[in-house]
Amino acid sequence: MKAIEKYIRDNLDRFEELLCEFLRIPSVSADGRYRGEMLRAAEWLKTRLQEIGLKSWLITPPETSSGHPLVYAEAEKIPGAPTVLVYGHYDVQPADPVEKWHNPPFEPTIRDGYVYARGASDDKGQLLTHVFSVEAWLAVQGKLPLTVKFLFEGEEEIGSPTLAQYLRKGASELGCDCVVISDTAQFAPGQPAITYGLRGIAYFQLELEGPNSDLHSGQYGGAVTNPANALAAMLSSLIDERGRIRIPGFYEKVRPLTDEERQMLGLLPFDEEAFYRSIGVNTGSGETGFTVLERLWIRPSFDISGLASGYQGQGAKTIIPSRAEAKFSFRLVPDQDPARIGELVETYLKQICPPGVRMTLKPLAQCPALALPLSSPWIGAAQRAIEAGFGCAPVFVRSGGSIPIVSQLYQALDAYILLVGWGQEGDNPHAPNERFSLADFRRGLRTSCWLWQELSQVDLDQQRP
Ligand code: BES
Ligand code: MN
Ligand code: MN
Repeated sequence: MKAIEKYIRDNLDRFEELLCEFLRIPSVSADGRYRGEMLRAAEWLKTRLQEIGLKSWLITPPETSSGHPLVYAEAEKIPGAPTVLVYGHYDVQPADPVEKWHNPPFEPTIRDGYVYARGASDDKGQLLTHVFSVEAWLAVQGKLPLTVKFLFEGEEEIGSPTLAQYLRKGASELGCDCVVISDTAQFAPGQPAITYGLRGIAYFQLELEGPNSDLHSGQYGGAVTNPANALAAMLSSLIDERGRIRIPGFYEKVRPLTDEERQMLGLLPFDEEAFYRSIGVNTGSGETGFTVLERLWIRPSFDISGLASGYQGQGAKTIIPSRAEAKFSFRLVPDQDPARIGELVETYLKQICPPGVRMTLKPLAQCPALALPLSSPWIGAAQRAIEAGFGCAPVFVRSGGSIPIVSQLYQALDAYILLVGWGQEGDNPHAPNERFSLADFRRGLRTSCWLWQELSQVDLDQQRP
């Protein structure tokens, strides 16, 4: 391992340059204008994987779909050793509001030990640690201690439709014993974590259409249903003042928090004040009867992510807008079924929609929550690798975020899912000035090298709890 670690040190500048090259590709999956860039990012990854000696190819979605290619790669098969599949995503969130960035979002800039660019932490910087660690192993040892495969997709941020379809068709290449994913965060800077649970999501777009044109609010106000008023009223009746979602049946499947887990979460060194301070507020709110970590990780939530209606320019303009639109989502917990939640949401919204507006509800992305058993030899191996790479033992956490495809990977491949992320909460994923710490990049790289060593020692006959 010494020689491999030395290889990493000697090649760090080149790895950082390659990361910046990758970050210069604006691979925004949500916006059709970046279609060509999506392909360029996929090709870029394929070329890197081929350069380090793997077989790699793109799996392109049918021409009729608007999907983005999957990048697949495999190293030489190592008989008798476990097979690991590395999953990651090369798509990034839209960069706007662009004016809030200190540097252009696709011109990576290094400041104070961080690289700033859209996708730096989510997920380009993280996924590359595994590519470069495989390079190091192959350059130094000539071969890996276990069979490694890679699967990178370009639709994680939009719900993974192409990969889901591919999995349904069998996806024979993907067979493995364990899936390694670095797309989560440390518990605190320098305090690495293994994530054993993710929330799911049900995301919607709601449109209300009223009069066929904007109207003078003096001429019509008081007798016409204002779509903006209606939208505000509908959205605010989704949640009550105790932080409970008011949709009938919403909580029917929610798995209650066990005493054991409550105790475990309570032991994590979490400073609520510092948490709120770090985002520039002095306090927060949420469901009564739960701590901040419980609210974030193991209770459902409701958030509006976008609202659009009416006059946005300067000064006053007295109108009744003809339409109003909102994007919002529910974070889900085990054992809520996103499809069932979708039905309940639609029924409820139809019921409370006032007369005089037409409502359209579009589901945008959805996935169930993930809960992994903590007793697994894969966990022990990851623990040792993280200790070697970070110089510090990991803590066990859940995360409030979602990775849409994981529960399907878990089921379809019958493989353990190891969520070992190198990001930080303060990396600003999905926000302006996204960044990734170069120290975390380095520690992630080292950990990844150790991971292949430690995972190769797992006894396959004992792996299933
Ligand atoms: N990497 C995140 C998921 C994540 C966020 C894990 C924070 C741990 C902490 C992923 O790229 C993501 O943003 N997922 C989306 C999925 C959605 C668009 C369907 C999410 O959680 O909003
Ligand atoms: Mn991600
Ligand atoms: Mn993301």
